[in-house]
Amino acid sequence: MSNSIKLAILGLGTVGTGVITLINDNLDELKRRSGRDIIITEVGTRRQRDDIDENIIQNSDLMAIAASDNVDIVIEVIGGTTLAKDVIMHAIKNGKHVVTANKALLAEHGNEIFAFAEANNVHVAYEAAVAGGIPIIKVMREALAANKIDWLAGIINGTGNFIMTEMRDKGRSFADVLNEAQELGYAEADPTFDVEGIDAAHKLALLASIAFGIPLQFDKVYCEGITGITLQDVNYAEELGYRIKHLGFAVRRDGQGDNNAAGIELRVHPTLIPQDALLANVNGVKNAVLVNSHPLGQTLYCGDGAGAGATASAVMADVMDLVRVLGSKDGDDQSNIGHHVPHLAFIPEQLSDTPILRAEQMTTGYYLRVHANDNPGVLADITRILSDAGINIDAILQKPAHKVGQVPVIILTLPVVESQMNLAIEKIEKLETITDKVVRIRLDELA
Ligand code: HSE
Repeated sequence: MSNSIKLAILGLGTVGTGVITLINDNLDELKRRSGRDIIITEVGTRRQRDDIDENIIQNSDLMAIAASDNVDIVIEVIGGTTLAKDVIMHAIKNGKHVVTANKALLAEHGNEIFAFAEANNVHVAYEAAVAGGIPIIKVMREALAANKIDWLAGIINGTGNFIMTEMRDKGRSFADVLNEAQELGYAEADPTFDVEGIDAAHKLALLASIAFGIPLQFDKVYCEGITGITLQDVNYAEELGYRIKHLGFAVRRDGQGDNNAAGIELRVHPTLIPQDALLANVNGVKNAVLVNSHPLGQTLYCGDGAGAGATASAVMADVMDLVRVLGSKDGDDQSNIGHHVPHLAFIPEQLSDTPILRAEQMTTGYYLRVHANDNPGVLADITRILSDAGINIDAILQKPAHKVGQVPVIILTLPVVESQMNLAIEKIEKLETITDKVVRIRLDELA
């Protein structure tokens, strides 16, 4: 087979070695599908490795690889936002197409990187940056291209979902499960990115841009992690028919209704969702993205969200896409990259400046856990404050207090604008009978 496509892989960590394994395992399928030979010509690695095929050049100078004549497509899997950015910009400048799994880099610098790629007539593909092996970028940029997307909700961090599932199902400790997630190659180099929701916020920024045709705005994503979730709240939620999942939401609001502002909500936080919702049953390292679009309605995409095989699958899907638009090296040497789907799904001049709503403008239901002294009238005080704020209570759970003299009162509310909830909680916490800060977790029926 002629017309070989030459790949460079920058970084030989979990993902880089996963890509090499995938190519070795599935080379025949790749060739049969693309009609081209796909060969790794260079790898970027800090130290020489003796487990790499001797025909592949190993080089610690990533900038040299990014400019090499021996390379058509640069696969960046080193991570980080400094060297990775320099290398990608250099590759673009040298006319190389880039495939990256680097969600942090794209969420923070994607607007600049994509503009530079467009100016240089190359493409930066990033399927592996969001939801591991799930082809959600391709789905949203291509398969849903005829739809108007109203909202999406997703479990988009495999490590966090793995931790919460193992804690809930097996009673394992947070630290123990995180340790295993690191050993399995799920976690980020800095695992606080996983457990504090930052990794999910990076991915949400990317999903929201291609859903709504807005520039990347990672700095405007509201972000809460999973470190504050207690087993007590997990159990109360289950008792009320809900499950706590760590979700990212991108929601288009039209500004209808009292106190509602028009704009887009970008938020990542633990959320109570109905136990029988499909998303509530996505466990372990699995990710899932639920997209509500018009006229299609709800569709759900699910699969492994982290790990070598899943991420390599997404990286190579992008490589295959590029191979198909790259022109024949034997023929006129023209590539059809101009026909490629725009980086953020919408043509750059059509990206909109729809405002991103601030946290206090966002609308969600709530789970509240209030600790009160067991005095007459305490429940009436709490419900009066909520009703005065126009907050509709959906369910209340109060455990017997006769043994401890304190009652944990659990309240579920219908959706309310956060500023109203803030005021109500402030008043509740000022009641003499209230002994602790009110615990609040958002709630969504996913309807
Ligand atoms: N640390 C990430 C996760 C890897 O756990 O989801 C995949 O992006």
